[in-house]
Amino acid sequence: MFHTEAHAPENRHYEQLREFIREQIDKPGPLIQVLHRAQEIFGYLPMEVQDFVAREMNIPHSEVYSVVTFYNFFRTEPIGDHIINVCLGTACHVKGAQLILDALADELDIHVGGTTEDRFFTLSTARCFGACGLAPAMMIDEEVYGKLTVDKARKAIREFRKTTEKK
Ligand code: FES
Repeated sequence: MFHTEAHAPENRHYEQLREFIREQIDKPGPLIQVLHRAQEIFGYLPMEVQDFVAREMNIPHSEVYSVVTFYNFFRTEPIGDHIINVCLGTACHVKGAQLILDALADELDIHVGGTTEDRFFTLSTARCFGACGLAPAMMIDEEVYGKLTVDKARKAIREFRKTTEKK
């Protein structure tokens, strides 16, 4: 039995997910669909949500966990309000993208794929977003920052935070 009392504000979300599971359960290969829906509802797939899915679908937790970790579109950590995507495509790679990525991970004190404690930034990577002439490049949300150096990248995220928080 799943104790929803402890998750009062999220009850509605679990109810939504339960309903979706019931609709999907008899269809072939429903787990991926259910996990997609769960991620849409919760934003990511923490252990509690994976447990809930396993119980409701009557399958082992390990099965849910292996699907979640196999596909990189499933997230097990919350996503921040702003996404930094450092390009690791060939043009950016040869111009030192990894150094930029390492510097940002250090600056934000998170690992790649992680989110800052205040959920402001998520640090992610991309494979070429068509700004190769500006390599090495990154995007913060929709905005491209090119011809980066480690210092420029660090400065860009500090400035971004400062101006965004003022708004
Ligand atoms: S390789 Fe980085 S933008 Fe194309």
